[in-house]
Amino acid sequence: MKNLMNTHVRSDSPTTGFLFKLMGFLLMGLLLTGCERPVPESVQSGYRGTGMAQVYNPRLLEIKTEKNQPPDVIPAADAGGPKASEVYKNVKVLGDLSVGQFTRLMVSMTNWVAPNEGCAYCHNVANFADDSKYTKVVARRMTEMTQHINAEWQPHVAQTGVTCYTCHRGQPVPSEIWFKADHQPQGSNFMGDKAGQNEPSPVVNLSSLPNDPFTPFLLESKNIRLAGPTALPSGNRQSIKQAEWTHGLMVHMSTSLGVNCTYCHNTQSFQTWENSPPQRVTAWHGIRMARDLNLTYMEPLTEVFPAHRKGPLGDVAKANCATCHQGAYKPLNGAPMAKDFPELLKPALTASKVAAK
Ligand code: HEC
Ligand code: HEC
Ligand code: HEC
Ligand code: HEC
Repeated sequence: MKNLMNTHVRSDSPTTGFLFKLMGFLLMGLLLTGCERPVPESVQSGYRGTGMAQVYNPRLLEIKTEKNQPPDVIPAADAGGPKASEVYKNVKVLGDLSVGQFTRLMVSMTNWVAPNEGCAYCHNVANFADDSKYTKVVARRMTEMTQHINAEWQPHVAQTGVTCYTCHRGQPVPSEIWFKADHQPQGSNFMGDKAGQNEPSPVVNLSSLPNDPFTPFLLESKNIRLAGPTALPSGNRQSIKQAEWTHGLMVHMSTSLGVNCTYCHNTQSFQTWENSPPQRVTAWHGIRMARDLNLTYMEPLTEVFPAHRKGPLGDVAKANCATCHQGAYKPLNGAPMAKDFPELLKPALTASKVAAK
């Protein structure tokens, strides 16, 4: 990676004459412009000569910036007056809000998740208290999940926080979700278990790495670390195959954030934390957060989702780094999402707590 980033243009064309040289240069220029236009910019993020740099293509950056604009915010509503729990019949999570605040959130949620479909995407509009649409049941749990992210995962999302929009971006199904991949099982052909390799998948940037690096790390807690503490392989039982799974995840993390490995690592040692940029620690929490969301919120909703929303193996759609980041180093380029919606920042008021009141 370091070598790739530090590539210099060398002219190895024969020195027999000026014409040859010129042709060489022209050809080189043609080849290079064929690669990437306009010429990428690089931004240094560490000591010179250490390869600590980020490479950006201005054209792609512009598209990314456009895709990551935060939505308009409806002005805050009056906190006074009767509470939603007193006025409505079936409010289990948002009962503490005033009716004005509750309505503001309903309209915002509609804009964030189902702007084309409207209230009817989650509601039986003849009876708003009715829970017969699965989308409403999911949305209630999603509200608790959003509160949980903002309140309990500040080591990752900081004060920036998230709203439904961070993942949904105006559509009912977020554009970046994942399902378990249908690997060829062990011994099903002479190749044995391919672990999803050589099936070029955008998940690992079309590389020949395992195409489901999520199940072991963002659902299960398989070991990501593989470097041994000693020069000789004494005691380190991590295999090349395990390294490939780790690298699959790392490629996903890089592409999700639109960064190189050096955003989080000093290539002198991928292992040591002391030399790693602070973003690596944030990423460490991000891995645990994604795992928590998938285990605590997404998987238990499996029975609620209809079959057509599930993956080829019948599992529910799950979140990874791209679900929130969508190509940006911070989702929506760091726009503060939670500050205008304090009701999505406090710990979830669960059904049992409401009942106990
Ligand atoms: C993305 C799903 C979703 C959309 C879209 C949505 N709602 Fe809701 N709505 C919910 C959920 C979830 C609840 C229950 C909240 C709770 O339990 O705290 C709810 C509850 C309500 C209630 C309380 C009903 C009762 O008596 O219990 C009203 C009223 C309401 N919504 C109005 C609206 C209106 C008006 C719109 C359109 C502007 C809308 N909702 C759009 C998910 C949605
Ligand atoms: C961390 C990312 C994330 C956040 C934040 C989030 N969601 Fe979701 N949401 C998902 C994923 C993943 C799915 C599963 C996709 C599917 O429906 O197949 C989903 C599905 C849904 C669905 C079902 C859509 C359908 O047609 O199947 C609704 C409704 C929904 N979310 C509402 C909300 C609301 C309302 C909020 C904010 C209170 C919210 N979500 C916040 C990730 C998120
Ligand atoms: C967004 C931050 C981030 C990016 C980008 C990133 N990594 Fe990592 N990497 C981490 C974190 C965090 C860990 C430790 C994970 C853990 O312990 O749970 C890690 C661990 C590793 C390890 C294992 C180190 C050990 O101790 O054994 C290797 C190897 C690695 N990364 C390689 C790469 C490569 C190659 C790339 C680029 C394709 C890359 N990483 C991009 C954050 C990142
Ligand atoms: C629920 C949404 C969500 C998910 C899922 C998520 N992130 Fe983040 N991430 C955020 C938010 C919000 C911030 C901005 C925090 C801030 O402002 O400091 C952030 C910030 C970061 C940063 C710090 C960037 C910087 O320059 O300071 C890194 C690195 C990062 N995320 C990596 C990851 C990785 C790796 C994953 C997947 C394992 C992941 N994130 C999954 C929401 C998310």
